[in-house]
Amino acid sequence: MSAPKKLYIKTYGCQMNVYDSERMAETLGGQGYVETKTPEDADMILLNTCHIREKAAEKVYSELGRFKGLKAEKPDLKIGVAGCVAQAEGEEIMRRQPLVDLVVGPQSYHRLPEMEAKAGAGEKVLDTDFPEEDKFEKLKRRPKAKRGPTAFLTVQEGCDKFCAFCVVPYTRGAEVSRPADRILREAEDLVERGVREITLLGQNVNAYHGAGPNGDMTLAQLIWELDKVDGLERIRFTTSHPNDMMDDLIEAHGTCAKLMPYLHLPVQAGSDKILKRMNRSHTAESYIRLIERIRAARPDILISGDFIVGFPEETEEDFQATLDLVEEVKYGTAYSFKYSTRPGTPAAERAQVDPKEADDRLQRLQALLTRQQREVQDSMVGRELGVLFEKKGRFPGQMVGKSDYLHAVHVADCDAEIGDLRRVRIVSSGANSLAGELIA
Ligand code: SAH
Ligand code: SF4
Ligand code: F3S
Repeated sequence: MSAPKKLYIKTYGCQMNVYDSERMAETLGGQGYVETKTPEDADMILLNTCHIREKAAEKVYSELGRFKGLKAEKPDLKIGVAGCVAQAEGEEIMRRQPLVDLVVGPQSYHRLPEMEAKAGAGEKVLDTDFPEEDKFEKLKRRPKAKRGPTAFLTVQEGCDKFCAFCVVPYTRGAEVSRPADRILREAEDLVERGVREITLLGQNVNAYHGAGPNGDMTLAQLIWELDKVDGLERIRFTTSHPNDMMDDLIEAHGTCAKLMPYLHLPVQAGSDKILKRMNRSHTAESYIRLIERIRAARPDILISGDFIVGFPEETEEDFQATLDLVEEVKYGTAYSFKYSTRPGTPAAERAQVDPKEADDRLQRLQALLTRQQREVQDSMVGRELGVLFEKKGRFPGQMVGKSDYLHAVHVADCDAEIGDLRRVRIVSSGANSLAGELIA
């Protein structure tokens, strides 16, 4: 038998790209590839890219430039670009960077084996179709490979919301939900391989409406089916849209013990004028009322958010409304970004905010969010929480896991194994993590 070929994948962007990279590696495993962590060893390099902001997209070209020397030394090395930049700029990538052999959009991954064979024969291949067939069914799997305790599982993909700043509806295509039985089969398979916590993924995961035995199912109904899977201890989902936060999902947060008390619910801005211009179709008030309803169902839930500052036409007064909303909601964690112009999206044509002003707003928002994040983290001290242990710590005997609220927790002199879910008393709160001790 010939030595296996080596595949190096570098992943940018969101969790869905992490999931996709795993699936691409599995699929190419069927072609005799094994993964390597060093590009120098690789027979094939794949960059799984993100197009969400200009910086993310530009990284791809600089990264590709770095492979010039490798390709010169090793002419058989194949270089591929996957993900959202591939979808948005496939032809341009081929033009701008002749060392690229293969470009594959997020909806065509299942065709990678054929593409790899063509690239191997010296062809340049580009596939950015939105094919009819179900790529998830066609992607090959390696069912027996052992896994770590946490995994992502895509249940819904694409977006029909067309927020005025966002490329996702163009790069991931229309919103599609996977049938429930396939998701359940995949979850059972993951659990057999050692997974204890599954995060259900979708660009609008709470808009999930996949086919079930008695018609379309909601995300909450899917979660209740997953709740029955023995050995699965924790369920999470991301990312949700405020407008799709249905009553049964809110209720599940109060009643489903496996559903973790953490909700990522991006609001983007606090000014109704800006929200309207963003095409978000919710107001600051409706968002705050929604948070109240969720907290009524699950008072301790940790709320996480996404924010954009310096969206076109945002005034200081509009920005102040974002700060006010943050003060009111109190976020446990949040991601905030300066608006980045994305060609082809509606907001790209509008009057842009002075970049210095946007920088200043971002700093002020982040200062407030960091303070809140710290307060919420500090409030965990003294509490007894579930911790799922994921890896060994830096010190002998130390283990690291995640709490129900997704905070990293370090435990010294810890007899828990990777994959154990144990009760831990939190004793202190550090810069980015908590420390705790096992409760016997
Ligand atoms: N589907 C998710 C988010 C997808 S993108 C949702 O609807 O909330 C992740 C985050 O990137 C967004 O929530 C937004 O805050 C940010 N983002 C998207 N486009 C952006 C842009 N053009 N400039 C800056 N931030 C952007
Ligand atoms: Fe982008 Fe808006 Fe869709 Fe989220 S809901 S993916 S921000 S268009
Ligand atoms: Fe980026 Fe595409 Fe995800 S643009 S955030 S990788 S959906």
